[in-house]
Amino acid sequence: MPAVLSGAPHRRPGGAGDETSQMPTDHGPKPLRATRSGPLKGSLRPPGDKSISHRSLMLGALAVGETVVEGLLEGEDVISTAAAMRAFGATVTRGEDAVWRVAGPGVGGLLEPEGVIDYGNAGTGVRLALGIAGSHAFATTFTGDGSLIKRPMGRVLDPLRRMGVQVIARSGDRLPATVRGPDVPVPVEYRLPVASAQVKSSILLAGLNVPGTTTVIEPVPTRDHTERMLQAFGAAIDIETGEDGSRIIRVDGRHDLKPQHIVVPGDPSSAAFPIVAALIVEGSDVTVENVLLNPTRTGLLETLIEMGADIVIENRRAVGGEEVGDIRVRHKRLKGVRVPASRAPSMIDEFPILAIAAAFAEGDTLMEGIGEMRVKESDRIAAIAAGLVANGVTVEEGPESLLVHGGAEVPGGGLVATRLDHRIAMSFLILGLAAEKPVTVDDAATIATSFPAFQGLMTGLGARFEEATDG
Ligand code: S3P
Repeated sequence: MPAVLSGAPHRRPGGAGDETSQMPTDHGPKPLRATRSGPLKGSLRPPGDKSISHRSLMLGALAVGETVVEGLLEGEDVISTAAAMRAFGATVTRGEDAVWRVAGPGVGGLLEPEGVIDYGNAGTGVRLALGIAGSHAFATTFTGDGSLIKRPMGRVLDPLRRMGVQVIARSGDRLPATVRGPDVPVPVEYRLPVASAQVKSSILLAGLNVPGTTTVIEPVPTRDHTERMLQAFGAAIDIETGEDGSRIIRVDGRHDLKPQHIVVPGDPSSAAFPIVAALIVEGSDVTVENVLLNPTRTGLLETLIEMGADIVIENRRAVGGEEVGDIRVRHKRLKGVRVPASRAPSMIDEFPILAIAAAFAEGDTLMEGIGEMRVKESDRIAAIAAGLVANGVTVEEGPESLLVHGGAEVPGGGLVATRLDHRIAMSFLILGLAAEKPVTVDDAATIATSFPAFQGLMTGLGARFEEATDG
């Protein structure tokens, strides 16, 4: 049996990388309760952006020489990517100053991992790594936790098969899965059937080791971090807008990438939790600093502003080739809105916390075209609907939509099943800060995948949490 290479302990046993010694070692479920809190006041800096953090370590491994990364998100998902890149032969180290260094073997120079790569809860990590591994002529086997092994991998395995990659996966193209690249992979032109930055990125990363031009056609724009970072690393990449408005991204493979110095901006998907908390907790005035404002990620801010939120963006500046700003939010009664389907990709991870804002808004909020939510860390439409109902909020769940009937008061008092989903856990803890009765989540341990400092930073603003031994 090959050893299991596991960067972060997750919620299953496995070896841990050096830097995980700072992380909690007890990974049993951790029930947590949030209680109505006084005004939230002060400022905080969210952790580094998760998407950019994964890509920094991956592109660092695919460049020849040393890439330096400041502000990396040290959450379990990204630690899994650090472990995966080590398994492919990269040297990945963390200095005492929390600066990470990646010395890459470079495109085409990766080594065959000795064991199974356990990616824990990290969908982005494993889908991008499948692309990297798939274009190399060796076998790599990936697995994950109870959430990840249920998620669809066919969306990246299908284009990889077209490149000539051999795949053995569990039924329905689920993990565990093994990919083995051919000696000479075939370049493809692939039109994305789902709006997914993960699929786009997986193909582009595979394309780096394919002779010739790999083309991805994206009918609906999704987050563009892979393209921006590939440009910065000196890849032969070209982006064009088609006649129908789609983005056509071409990458020429088998060129060397140049190592970079990366400064990771704050994660807007993590910033979303204190932002909504400040809006719904009476008397609050909170500034969330250093937040990435890339337009492919700002759908939640746009929606909250339409709902009447008091949000001011201060100190706009450039960090590492991306726009960032400090977001000042003051409590304000919101009104319900209809969120158009076209906005979904720019706020795909923010619907759980938007649903919490919607519960406190006057009138109905309708979220449409959110079918992708059903294949995230959990079926998020079902998880949000069940959590809101348990706390006295009326919702209407459609196959690809969610309608939340808002009200000035949310009864609360519910126990929420978090289903191994960090964003469900954080969203309902935020609900509890403003609901009439405390709200309990059955497991807050998953929050460490993306926002390990969540509880401490929110407590610093005045949020009230307590361990809930009675679940
Ligand atoms: C991500 C893309 C999104 C998002 C995920 C991170 C990325 O997924 O949900 O958390 O870093 O590429 P899809 O674009 O596949 O929907």
